[in-house]
This record gives sequence, structure tokens and C-alpha cells, in this order.
Amino acid sequence: MYRFTDYYQNEVTLSFDDHPFSRSPKHVWVICCYNNKWLLTKHKERGLEFPGGKVEENETAKEAAVREVKEETGGTVESIRYVAQYVVDGKGGTIIKNVYFAEIGELVKQETFYETEGPVQLARIPVNVRQNMQYSFIMKDDVLNHCMAFIGKECQEDK
Ligand code: GTP
Repeated sequence: MYRFTDYYQNEVTLSFDDHPFSRSPKHVWVICCYNNKWLLTKHKERGLEFPGGKVEENETAKEAAVREVKEETGGTVESIRYVAQYVVDGKGGTIIKNVYFAEIGELVKQETFYETEGPVQLARIPVNVRQNMQYSFIMKDDVLNHCMAFIGKECQEDK
């Protein structure tokens, strides 16, 4: 279990246990790997981030993860697995988010990428991501580095 503060000084608690905070979290975030590269989306306001969003009424968190990847990047999920769960305790309330790792089979051009400008492929996430204005605040706390360390180099190996 890890505790730290995020970009906005909200309290974050991250765990790699199996759904420690909620069986049915309302938010998802998906670390995507496509063609030996990381696949992100460019949110129109927040900037570059791994895709994700809110779980809808009629779907599971994993279904939401697959849908958000498609909507925000055009990527079709080939395989997906649960990685971690975190809680953000903010001034505006508390959210619980599942983190997944997904392998993307293909990128399909979409008519709309919703609140984003669509897919962005990166060989690596820059070391200065926290100071880099191009990146979303979601990429600027310890969730990213702990999850990347947990996933290891899986995206860039053995292909
Ligand atoms: P809508 O306007 O209804 O789409 O939602 P929102 O902009 O209020 O955001 P949401 O409900 O997704 O999240 C509420 C707050 O939680 C945000 O303003 C952020 O401060 C925080 N939050 C959401 N997701 C993350 C995340 O992945 N990491 C961190 N650190 N904070 C997050």
C-alpha cells in the first residue's frame, strides 16, 4: 500500500491487492501497449495521458476500460488485466479507480475521440513528465511510476 499526494495535493492511496477499496469502482485507467510502444490519448484540456474514464451504469469496470480505450484512442483491446486500485481523496469528494494493463491489437480510426484528440504513441514516457506541460495531471503522481514498475518492461519486450 502506498500513500502520497497528487499534483493538486489530494491524498492518494494505491494498492496492488485485488480490489482492496471497492469491488465496483466507478473509474478506470488503462496503461496501453501497442506495437511495442505506449499508447496514450491527448485530452483536449488535460493533455497527454493513458486513456480512462467513468464506468457507466450498465457495464463492469473492465468493460468500461475496453470501451474507453476504443473511444479515446481507437485501440481494440486484445488482452487486459487488472493491475491496481487507488483512492483519491479530494476537496470535491472521493473517487476509486482501477488500473489495467492492456495489449492493443489494432488502431482503428474513429469519427470522434470524444474529449480527446485521439491516439499518441510513445516509445517511452519522459523522465520529466511531472514538469512537462504537455502531460495531464493524472500522469503526475506516484500512481504512474509504481504501476509502470509493477508492469515492468512488458510492452517493449519479446515482440
Ligand atoms: P465530470 O465533470 O463529471 O466528468 O467529472 P470531474 O471532472 O468532476 O472529475 P471526476 O469525477 O472524474 O473526478 C473528480 C476529481 O477527482 C477530479 O477533479 C480530480 O481532482 C480527481 N481525479 C480523478 N481522476 C484522478 C486520477 O486519476 N488521479 C488523481 N490524482 N486525481 C483524479
